[in-house]
Parts: sequence; C-alpha cells; structure tokens
Amino acid sequence: MRIGIIGLGYVGLTLAIAAADNGIDVYGVEVNQHIKDCLAQNKAHFFEPRLDSLIKRHNGKEFHCVEEFPKDLKFDAFIITVGTPLKKGEKTPNFEYIKSALRDTISKIYDGNQLIILRSTVSVGTTRKVVIPFLADLCHKPESEVRVAMCPERTVEGKAVEELTHLPQIVSGSNPEATEIAVDLFRHLTPYVITVDSLEEAELVKLYCNTYRDMTFALGNAFCMAAQTYGVDGMKAIKHANQGYARSNIALPGYVAGPCLEKDAYILINNMPECDSKDFIVAGRKFNESLEDLTLEWVKRKVGEPSEDKCIVLSGMAFKGQPETNDLRGSSSVYIAQKLHKLGYKLILHDFVALESEMKELGLGEVCSDIYEACRDASALLVLNNHKKYFDLQEDEVLTKSHNDFAILDTWGVCQNLYSIENVDIATLGNFMISR
Ligand SMILES: NC(=O)c1ccc[n+]([C@@H]2O[C@H](COP(=O)([O-])OP(=O)(O)OC[C@H]3O[C@@H](n4cnc5c(N)ncnc54)[C@H](O)[C@@H]3O)[C@@H](O)[C@H]2O)c1
Repeated sequence: MRIGIIGLGYVGLTLAIAAADNGIDVYGVEVNQHIKDCLAQNKAHFFEPRLDSLIKRHNGKEFHCVEEFPKDLKFDAFIITVGTPLKKGEKTPNFEYIKSALRDTISKIYDGNQLIILRSTVSVGTTRKVVIPFLADLCHKPESEVRVAMCPERTVEGKAVEELTHLPQIVSGSNPEATEIAVDLFRHLTPYVITVDSLEEAELVKLYCNTYRDMTFALGNAFCMAAQTYGVDGMKAIKHANQGYARSNIALPGYVAGPCLEKDAYILINNMPECDSKDFIVAGRKFNESLEDLTLEWVKRKVGEPSEDKCIVLSGMAFKGQPETNDLRGSSSVYIAQKLHKLGYKLILHDFVALESEMKELGLGEVCSDIYEACRDASALLVLNNHKKYFDLQEDEVLTKSHNDFAILDTWGVCQNLYSIENVDIATLGNFMISR
C-alpha cells in the first residue's frame, strides 16, 4: 500500500512515520521550510517520544518527504492532515488550509480513483459539502462515485506514536469502496477499526471526544470556584469527593488549553442550530477560558501594580506538563503572559521542555533555563503546568532567603516540597481566590 500525506505537522508526521513503521510506503508534502529542514536532519520539528528514532529508521526508505507527489507512482490514498485553526478574532473554524491542500496539491495528482481521507478536525458536514464536491468537479464524476473518507485523529501529544497503534481508529467512507480502502489502510496500524454510519458521524465522534474532555474539566473548574465562594479549598473538596468513591471522577482544577481543546468545542457548535446544548457547550468553554483572567486578578492582588522593580516568573509555558510536550500553541500560559505583558508587568519565562528560541520569539520577556535563578529577584512565581519536574523542586536558598514578599501560585498543586517555606505565600487554583 502507498499513501500520500498532505501536511507534516504533529498529526501528519506522527501518522506518516507510524504508517511507514507498519509496512506502508509513505510520501509526505509540507509547505513549511523549517519542518523540511528538520526532516532532512532526521528530526521532527517538535518533541515526541520515540519519533526521532523512527524517523531515522524510515527516512528515505519507507518514508519520503517530497516537494510534489511523484506522478509515476500509484497511490492508494491521500490523507489531508493540515491545521484547522479558528479564524483570527473569531470563534469559527478556518478551513482555508483544507481548501489549499485540495486546490494546490491533490488537484495535481488526483485521477478520480484514489481515496481522499480527511484526518483534520472539521465541523459537521465539511467532508460532504467541501471535499466531495471539489473532487467530483475535478474528475467530472458524480459525487456518489468519488472515494472520500473521514478518519479523525484522536492521539494525545506526547503519546502519539504509541497511541497510533493502540487507539481504535474511526473510519467512515462516502461509499463502500472508500470505506473498504480506508479500513484496509488503518488495519496496517491496528486491528481495532470502528466503521461508523456516516461521514457526519465520524466528524462528530472526534468533536465529542475533545468537547467531552473540555466540559469535564469545566465542571471540575466550576466546582473548584464554587467551593471558594464558601471559603473551602476547591482542590481538596474535589479530591475528597473522589476518594474511595468510584462514582465520582471529578477533574481537578486546571487550565484547559492546547491547539485542539481551545477550538474543538467551537468547531462542534459551528453550523449548529440555536439550541440549549449549544449554550451549555459555550458556557463550559468560556468558563475554562475565564481561569486566565482569574489568574491575572491573583497577580494584581499579590504583586500590585506593575513597576520596573517587580518581576514575575512564569514557569510551564508549554500547554501541558504531562504527557510532556514543548508545544506552545493554544497554551493558557502564553495567553496569561500576553495579558500580563500588555498590563506592563516585567516577565521571565521558563519551561522544562519548550525551546528557549520559541519562548524568546513570543517577545514577552526574558527567558531563563534555571527556575531558581529566574526567581532570584522576582516578586512572584506562577507554575502554570504540571510537568513532573515540579515535584522535585526543593527549598532552594533563592526561594527561602532572598524574599520577603514572594508569592507562588502553584496552579496544579505540584510544588508540595515548597509548602513548608516560611516566608513564602503559596496558593493553588484550589484556594487562590480566598488565599490571604
Ligand atoms: N496536534 C494534535 O495532537 C492533534 C490531535 C488530533 C487532531 N488534530 C487535528 O489535526 C489537524 C492538524 O493538526 P496539527 O497539530 O498537526 O497541525 P499543524 O499545524 O502542526 O500541522 C499542519 C501542517 O500542514 C502544513 N500545511 C498546511 N497547508 C499545506 C499544504 N497545502 N500542503 C502541504 N502542507 C500544508 C502546515 O505547514 C503544517 O505543518 C487539526 O485539524 C487538528 O485539530 C490535532
């Protein structure tokens, strides 16, 4: 089997390499020069466990990064894995990258017989209303004859290579031949393929998975804030509600962020007629977003007005700490940094995994690789993700001796070793609205 992949980002590259590792001949095209330069050096442009060693094994053999798909080769399928971000300043999805993949790449090689798979996350109806008419027009066939499948990606960053061969794959074809080829393709990766009833159902399943996570976290965050209106620590109340009681699995409070969760609830409600479930989903998403402004309130309360001699350390800039990633896209930490920077606060950014060059590029303040050193003259430390290295932080002399008015917001409650420091004021998201 031979496939072509359009877009070698997080989804496209991990899928390409997993497919190559499972006996498929894979060609990939990408427009970003940096990604192609990294691949020329046998490296991914992002951190993902095991990925670089697999690239080294398959690059130039079963996997080929090419400028254009070779016309003399027969391809069974092309998979579109380009990004589907929200439009700038709006909450509606931008499908321009999908249209450009069809127009600029697929149209050059499409013969009307290959299967075209949409892997990107899209709103309901996009496969049928955007992809199929374009292809039918291109090959002058009735829409019912073109072979299209919707096979959404559901991996989590930081575990994608492992999950691609372990997660069930959702498949839906526009006709029986399309479904058959798509099932055959994904069976190379995993025996667990779920064929769903329609293209729309496949689109929905993906949106359900991410929106479900988003709403679950929203409920945890709402419970956490509700507890604080009674003067109760929300994080503790949630832990106690879950403890030894299998029917409760309430999420602990935290930012709900990243390139997928920040947008997928909005993609789900795109095109949805006005109804109560739409309001419910929007309310949950907005509640998660509101944690960023609550964090700003804490900073204003603890640090006071911005001034030259006050500096704030923001640690944990990647959108999550576990599984670890260096991805800054859609990170609440970055949005908090942008808001603090706009208010005039002096910032130092730190992360255990994110690249210093990418943090510098944000233009929001200094970047420091040593968290203790970053705190030397700071007024506050905000620990913004739950990377496992925070559990190892010690009562370093920088934190214990040189501060009188030093405050720490340990948002995820992962810096337990620091809680005994006497002169430091520490809060978590469980009590930051009521902490002294
Ligand atoms: N990141 C994840 O873990 C994840 C997980 C599940 C689903 N998704 C969904 O998968 C899709 C892709 O996400 P991503 O994180 O990989 O995005 P990404 O931005 O990292 O990757 C998309 C890549 O496509 C390239 N591209 C755009 N237009 C192109 C074209 N015409 N030809 C060739 N290359 C082109 C871009 O340069 C980019 O490198 C999105 O819809 C996303 O919501 C992402």
